[in-house]
Amino acid sequence: MTNLTRADLAVLDTQDPLASRRALFEIPEGVIYLDGNSLGVLPKAARQRVAQVVEQEWGVDLIRSWGKAGWMDLATKVGGKIAALVGAKPNEVIAADTTSLNLFKLASAALKLRPGRRKIVSEAGNFPTDLYILQGVVAQVGQGVELVVAERGRVLDAVDEDTALVVLTHVHYKSAEIFDMAGVTAAVQAKGALMLWDLSHSTGAVDIDLNAAKADLAIGCGYKYLNGGPGAPAFLFVAEQHLPGLEQPLSGWMGHARPFDFVDQYEPVGDIRRALCGTPPVLALSALDSALDAFDGVSMQEVRAKSMLQRRTLLDLIKQRCAAFDFGFEPDGDARTRGSHVSIHHPEAYAICQALIARGVIGDFRAPDALRLGLTPLYLGYADLWDAVEHLVQVMEGKAWDSPQFQARAAVT
Ligand SMILES: Cc1ncc(COP(=O)(O)O)c(C=O)c1O
Repeated sequence: MTNLTRADLAVLDTQDPLASRRALFEIPEGVIYLDGNSLGVLPKAARQRVAQVVEQEWGVDLIRSWGKAGWMDLATKVGGKIAALVGAKPNEVIAADTTSLNLFKLASAALKLRPGRRKIVSEAGNFPTDLYILQGVVAQVGQGVELVVAERGRVLDAVDEDTALVVLTHVHYKSAEIFDMAGVTAAVQAKGALMLWDLSHSTGAVDIDLNAAKADLAIGCGYKYLNGGPGAPAFLFVAEQHLPGLEQPLSGWMGHARPFDFVDQYEPVGDIRRALCGTPPVLALSALDSALDAFDGVSMQEVRAKSMLQRRTLLDLIKQRCAAFDFGFEPDGDARTRGSHVSIHHPEAYAICQALIARGVIGDFRAPDALRLGLTPLYLGYADLWDAVEHLVQVMEGKAWDSPQFQARAAVT
């Protein structure tokens, strides 16, 4: 591998078909943002849209906006836009609630779709909310239903004829490892179980084809690579063939066939809206709706190609320029088996991350020792990677991390 130079990376920027997308986002002066896998940056359109919703739709039109401004249809409209990014049909995806809540709803529904089966299988070290919610589901359902958590390489061994559901995160939040969606789904379904994918670290960065993989169910975040804003509505996917039988436990009025009949008996609507619970968060949905327009005219293959090249480039740069500083690297496989972030390990990763943030290079820390750097193809340039690594070199050379201000742990890391 020949050593890369900043000039090499500047050339890549001039050849980047996605370079013009950066202008759609507000990236603060002096910031190199490597945390779009946690909270995407503000799309300019979202700022304008939220202002318009507040001032006109809420401020002037008030309750008339449920119809006039299409508030009532926002959840399905946004779902349709996300469907296009994950290889689903528009009627199979809806924006709603949080990823955690959507998992609760769909995991509970999956148990009902596989009556008599008593196991849910997931991965040890999966994102905590997934495991915590599944623990809550089995506690709620009782009847001998249990959660079985297996090491990554043994997950499929744990799936048998008693398994109702397997829940896995497509791109691992720390290691960025990717499960083979089609292969795993087929193996799970061969045992008669349903497959639910958490796409939080995939959607908007990795090309996904839920329909081609024959996935049953999926959930994902709206605030990461989709740039919907802090606490943005999440989404869920239900494969068309499961929709008629889908019974989810949070049977609120927005999932009713005729919410404005105000009848006493719950009767789910026939389509994906049966996955809804209560009144949609219109301001947040509006922000997400406009944020998704940044993907208009872009193919996910194009996004994925840039993400893979940026990941390779960042790793190569760190390996070349930080060899003296004892960083630990994950075993790195084929680029297609990794998502859109890099985790490098160091005992002082927390303080290093803080020292970088003080210089405007924003990544995050994941306990116990990972410095996590996210690559968001829509707004990150190649020369940014050079500049970020230059800051890392300086932080390490000057031991800038070895200062009390960077050592004190904040509540959010
Ligand atoms: C894989 C995964 N699932 C779920 C979540 C979060 O769920 P929620 O939005 O409900 O907090 C995250 C957040 O980082 C995540 O990485």
